[in-house]
Amino acid sequence: MKQKEREIGILLKYQQAETDAVLIYRSLAIAAQDPADTALFHRLAADEGRHAAALKAITGKTLRPSKRMAARVTGLKRVLGREKTYRLVARFEYKAAAAYKPFCARYPALFGIRMDELRHGGEIYSLLSGASE
Ligand SMILES: [Fe+2]
Ligand SMILES: [Fe+2]
Repeated sequence: MKQKEREIGILLKYQQAETDAVLIYRSLAIAAQDPADTALFHRLAADEGRHAAALKAITGKTLRPSKRMAARVTGLKRVLGREKTYRLVARFEYKAAAAYKPFCARYPALFGIRMDELRHGGEIYSLLSGASE
C-alpha cells in the first residue's frame, strides 16, 4: 500500500473519532448538571464538527456518528461519576493531539485541530478545578 493510502486510512479513523466526538459532547452537555459543563461541551461539540469537516475535505468520505459511542460515554459517567469521566475524556483529547502531530507537516489543516485538542483537554480539566468541585 502506498504511503498516501495508508495515511488516508489512519485519517479516516480520526475522522470517525471526530464524528463520534460531536455526539459524545452533545450527550455530555445534555447529561451535565452544571451549566458551565453544558456550555463547554456544546462548544466542544461544535469544534469537533469542524474537525470532522476538515478531515472529510482530506479523505473525501462522509461518515456517520456512532450513537453507541455516545451512549457508552454517558453510561460511563453514571458508573464512574463526573470527575473520573471528565479526566478520561480530557486524556483522550491530549492523545488525539499527539496522534495528529506526525500529520501536521503534510496536512497543515490538522495543525489547528491539534491545537484545539490541546485546548479542549485543558478546558475539560478546568471544569474540575472550578467552584463546583
Ligand atoms: Fe477534534
Ligand atoms: Fe477535541
